Amino acid sequence: MKKQEEKKTSGNEETGLKNLFKDELKDIYWAEKHLAKALPKMAKSATSDELRSCLEQHLTETEEQIARLEKVFELIGVKAAGKKCEAMEGLVEEGKGMMEETEDGSMTRDAAIISSAQKIEHYEIASYGTLRTLANTLGMTEAANLLQQTLDEEKSTDVKLTQVAESFVNESANTEGE
Ligand SMILES: [Fe+2]
Repeated sequence: MKKQEEKKTSGNEETGLKNLFKDELKDIYWAEKHLAKALPKMAKSATSDELRSCLEQHLTETEEQIARLEKVFELIGVKAAGKKCEAMEGLVEEGKGMMEETEDGSMTRDAAIISSAQKIEHYEIASYGTLRTLANTLGMTEAANLLQQTLDEEKSTDVKLTQVAESFVNESANTEGE
């Protein structure tokens, strides 16, 4: 009991949760930078203009999200640095494989890109949701607000991708090879 009290009164002492927050922040920082490198290729490989512009727009957003993460690092007084995110590396790698397995110029290609992009978005949504909640628990309101902004963007990208799939991509892909 006494130990716990000591912990509470020591302002400099880092809690385990704060360390978890830092680790998660480094993970998503690496993940976003990795994605920023992969998105141009995904956009270039897309068949439809709609999907291409959706991915290009998300690249611009991703660059802003990276800058936002750098602000969060600044707020907690930690130098911005990434820590390799195996999950994002795997998701991007799997996406590359899906692109290679689908024909250039086909709508099935777009359906594959959308599938892989949505898996990536869902990973990011989970990461930012966790980070936002941790920031709130740690009393870091400004950081929580920045993370919430990115979370909202990731969610709206996910919705846009569903719209592209449902508006014409899946149906066109379904008639390919007939
Ligand atoms: Fe992102």
